[in-house]
Amino acid sequence: MATFRQSPVNIHGNSDAVLAGWVREARSRTLELVADLSDEQLMGPQLRIVNPLLWEIGHVTWFQEKWALRHAGGEAPIRAHGDALYDSAAIPHDTRWSLRLPSREDTVAYMTTVRDRVLERIEQGKLSEQERYFITLGVFHEDMHTEAFTYTRQTYGWRAPFLPGTKSHLFSTTKSGRTRSRSVLSLSRARP
Ligand SMILES: [Fe+2]
Repeated sequence: MATFRQSPVNIHGNSDAVLAGWVREARSRTLELVADLSDEQLMGPQLRIVNPLLWEIGHVTWFQEKWALRHAGGEAPIRAHGDALYDSAAIPHDTRWSLRLPSREDTVAYMTTVRDRVLERIEQGKLSEQERYFITLGVFHEDMHTEAFTYTRQTYGWRAPFLPGTKSHLFSTTKSGRTRSRSVLSLSRARP
């Protein structure tokens, strides 16, 4: 049976350990949702209702870097052209397939670097309320996109992802080869 948080999350009451766990979990889920896809699938056929996944995994990382590290933490940009590549408010949807995106390996390295820098800031034990807010915002934003990664796979008719910690695949394949949603999921993370 699906379980969901019943009460609002108190982001100011979280321990640093809980927040660090959320950061790790969100990035792990993103990586799990694209790990089995080919490079071609990461730039799958252009559709109006999805994003190219190679762009989208870079975008969630850029968002985390921009708000948690640069805005709240005062750090310098990690990538010189990050804003020109990954700012969803500035880059029209149709052009995201024609950007000169970093390679898959380069993108994963960026994802790891940003995550680790955020974790370092948490582990220093001196987070301001603003940093805590924007780190949490990055987690929730990434959670939203992991839902998008999942429906992108479903939209293209690709194999359902196997997600460690869940009881079943998110959707099943019918005899006709089409996919359909399953109604019984267990996806929630244990958040207060
Ligand atoms: Fe976004």
